[in-house]
Amino acid sequence: MSKNKSVSNRSRTPQSKRFMQFISSDWGEARPAKKTLWESAKYAAARRAKLAAKYPNRVMIVEAGGMKVRSNDTEYRFRPDTDFTYLTGWGSATVPDSVLVIDTRGRTPKETLYLRPTAGKNSDEFFANPMIGEFWVGPRPSLEEVEAQLGIKTRDIKKLESDSRKFDRKLTKNTGSFAQHLSTMRFVKDAYEVAQLRKAVAVTIDGFAEVARAMPKATGHARGERVVETAFFAKARTEGYDIGYETIAASGPHACILHWTKNDGPVKKGDLILVDAGVELDSLYTADITRTIPTSGKFSKEQRWVYETVLLAADAAFAVVKPGIRFREIHDAAIAVIARRVAELGIIPVSAEEALKADNQHHRRYMVHGTSHHLGLDVHDCAKARREHYQDGILEAGMVFTIEPGLYFHQNDLKVPKAYRGIGVRIEDNVLVTAKGCENLSAKLPRTPEAIEAWFAANQS
Ligand code: GLY
Ligand code: MN
Ligand code: MN
Repeated sequence: MSKNKSVSNRSRTPQSKRFMQFISSDWGEARPAKKTLWESAKYAAARRAKLAAKYPNRVMIVEAGGMKVRSNDTEYRFRPDTDFTYLTGWGSATVPDSVLVIDTRGRTPKETLYLRPTAGKNSDEFFANPMIGEFWVGPRPSLEEVEAQLGIKTRDIKKLESDSRKFDRKLTKNTGSFAQHLSTMRFVKDAYEVAQLRKAVAVTIDGFAEVARAMPKATGHARGERVVETAFFAKARTEGYDIGYETIAASGPHACILHWTKNDGPVKKGDLILVDAGVELDSLYTADITRTIPTSGKFSKEQRWVYETVLLAADAAFAVVKPGIRFREIHDAAIAVIARRVAELGIIPVSAEEALKADNQHHRRYMVHGTSHHLGLDVHDCAKARREHYQDGILEAGMVFTIEPGLYFHQNDLKVPKAYRGIGVRIEDNVLVTAKGCENLSAKLPRTPEAIEAWFAANQS
């Protein structure tokens, strides 16, 4: 299954002239060309125009990136670079190795999208190249097709090398300030992005219903966490492109391990399971939602206390969100509740007020992570932006981020009363800043203990 030199010992493609002549003749079109302008195109054009205005007299080069090898000639599913996606609107259909060039050296910016168009039947690529050949991975679009869909002038990638000899004053992802700016540009989402994020959230909420339905199977399986993970994954692949990050399916004490993605443990009836998952759409926008669910359908007294603490923290964070506040104030609001409640439980040696002083912070033992991160094309969106624009940045309408406080009592934490050990809870919602406050985009997924219990029951058949 390969023409790759290192594995050419596996190739059985005939080499005879007669075969070549025979296989390259009498082919119709594989499929009709689709030449309708995509909805994402006009938004991507506006983003490119903004970027061009910011960087006059430069050549900006933004690469989609290539396929990554898993082993030998087997590759991972392709996921184009985020900045490339933002500036082209191409998403999951992107042809690997494509390159966007925005040249602002002339009077009007020149935009060119270089790509490898579909190979003609006069080359052996279509039948003999397992990595990119039409017989192996399906047809690629033509230059005309992509130009019509994205509204960007296209050019064969073969021309990039000679064209690039004329490029100077280049900006690439290796130019720190340029990479930073591309991240900063993405803080405020446009109407298309908000609509995509709403869709990603809606599909993710459906994925959580699948998780609830899978619970009887999960509790009956030695690796029940995998049952949960794959129930969600089925939704992600059927309704979207992929998961936006590795699903966390953390049952019982695993919930205290913040990025538990091994998911190879059992799901015990009576425990809580923390599920942190998000569907990535074909546009590559992703949701990032966490719910902590009682596997028996009902919270115990201690589980409920921990759950309600986290809910209070989340609600306190929601209450401060509005344009004009600093991003880090969201965390301050949530963590103050966590400090108060762990002080009430008597597991920190000082009062909540004392603990909250910068020199103390005892309560952070039980929630070491932050409360919020921006969300969009990347689950941890805008990550290259400077601190002054991110943690210290001022909220504006159109920003989208998570609110995700948690409280984690490790099973071996000797400071914690025994009945609370091994309980971990996180509640994560996706939030849009509006003109006066915010909207919880994931509000349709139950958040209160009562609503979770009712939702769980409704999804058992
Ligand atoms: N799922 C990763 C996070 O919540 O940030
Ligand atoms: Mn998150
Ligand atoms: Mn998450």
